[in-house]
Amino acid sequence: MRPQGRILLQKKSIPTFASVDIESKADIPLLINTFYGKVRASEAIGYIFNEVHWESHLPIMYDFWESVLFHTGPYARNTMAIHKGVHQRYPLSTAHFKEWVRLFKETVDELFEGNNAEAAKQRAESIATVMQLKIL
Ligand code: HEM
Repeated sequence: MRPQGRILLQKKSIPTFASVDIESKADIPLLINTFYGKVRASEAIGYIFNEVHWESHLPIMYDFWESVLFHTGPYARNTMAIHKGVHQRYPLSTAHFKEWVRLFKETVDELFEGNNAEAAKQRAESIATVMQLKIL
């Protein structure tokens, strides 16, 4: 659990960065919800997520990142095939992936700091690389 709950204070435009790692799966919803806030607001990729059924998609994302970071949880789905489907509906390019990864890393850096935070950014980048090789 997060000690004392964590409040991210912002003084004018200078963000105060938190020095707490992604310690357990309980930290993942904050990461994913914040990330998707940025994704949906993005001019470059937001439109791709307009039809997503969030109630079912968010728990799947939490499970996915639990599996990636902590090697636990029920996630066992074909992520690559699902993104092939996304690519058929909304043709993707390297620019889309670049933006996705940029927003993911930005989110991690705003909220977390530590080994798992670094691992999350590295895994996002390497999965994005493999995904592009497999689907573009
Ligand atoms: C251009 C980049 C990307 C776009 C536009 C994108 C878009 C999407 C969309 C629209 C969905 C929902 C699909 C559906 O429910 O029908 C989805 C699901 C998902 N995405 Fe991505 N994605 C991107 C990159 C990535 C990357 C790099 C990762 C992992 C690091 C990732 C992980 C996932 C996962 C785990 C799901 C849930 C799949 C499932 O249902 O099991 N995505 N993505």
